[in-house]
Amino acid sequence: MDQKLAGKIALVTGASSGQGAAEATLFAQAGARVILSDIADDAGEAQAASIRDSGGDAHYRHLDVANEDEWRALIENIRTESAGLNILVNNAGIPLRGGSVTNTKLEDWNRLLSVNLTGAFLGIREAAPLIRDSGGGAIVNTGSIAGLTGHFATAYSASKWGIRGITKSAAMELVDWGIRVNAVHPGLVHTPLVEDSVDFVKALTDQTPMERGASSEEIAKVVLFLACDDSSYITGHDIAVDGGFTDIGGYWRVLKQVMAQPDQKI
Ligand SMILES: NC(=O)c1ccc[n+]([C@@H]2O[C@H](COP(=O)([O-])OP(=O)(O)OC[C@H]3O[C@@H](n4cnc5c(N)ncnc54)[C@H](O)[C@@H]3O)[C@@H](O)[C@H]2O)c1
Repeated sequence: MDQKLAGKIALVTGASSGQGAAEATLFAQAGARVILSDIADDAGEAQAASIRDSGGDAHYRHLDVANEDEWRALIENIRTESAGLNILVNNAGIPLRGGSVTNTKLEDWNRLLSVNLTGAFLGIREAAPLIRDSGGGAIVNTGSIAGLTGHFATAYSASKWGIRGITKSAAMELVDWGIRVNAVHPGLVHTPLVEDSVDFVKALTDQTPMERGASSEEIAKVVLFLACDDSSYITGHDIAVDGGFTDIGGYWRVLKQVMAQPDQKI
């Protein structure tokens, strides 16, 4: 494939599984040296080894994105061992599907925000100076359609709306450092994050105009686009990768219902 990331060094969080693993794999195929990070160390080491077995340049490092000290140590390690950093993908995230506003416990709220939002904040804050010193680059944050519309899980939704805010603020601040900051907002993606909830997956599939979920690789291709020079004039932007759910989902359902009537009139 095209070596769109040749000579680049990329850090992907939450890279032991799902979308992060697919992004790390695709980045390595595109010529990057990839640092995979996660709290699931065995799976992360195995993922990095599998990328190396296919000829890629990949290394695993432990990182709990909610831990400030671990962020500092990892960025320092990359500064000395890899001599630079060009790309950060803030992908790590956890779900909380049952959390309506009246039954969310404070500890669950705090835990979720600390991973999904504070994790991205710490990542941008700690990595941006190194990306600047390495000649500039790109940061891609992982949001969700839960950050584009109203949603039934308050903490998860708040964390992903927060991703949009921090993306735009950081893009504004870091433009002078030669760093673009954008966010990708996946709809349903078939990963371990959702696969334990068969009813949720079915209901969301039924509401999606393309009537299917995405593969992790479909999301990774958009993240690669935002990470490489193909998107060199895009910053502060939200891209939904959701089979049409956000932009056409409401009227798609209306149209389907009307067209299902024998004497339909639009
Ligand atoms: N799967 C979906 O339908 C979907 C939809 C929209 C957005 N997302 C978002 O996509 C991102 C990736 O999720 P996925 O679908 O690949 O799920 P996944 O569960 O397969 O992967 C998430 C990874 O994050 C890691 N992780 C969890 N807590 C961490 C922490 N504190 N520090 C570092 N790593 C941590 C996990 O170990 C796991 O490897 C998440 O931000 C998620 O919110 C997922």
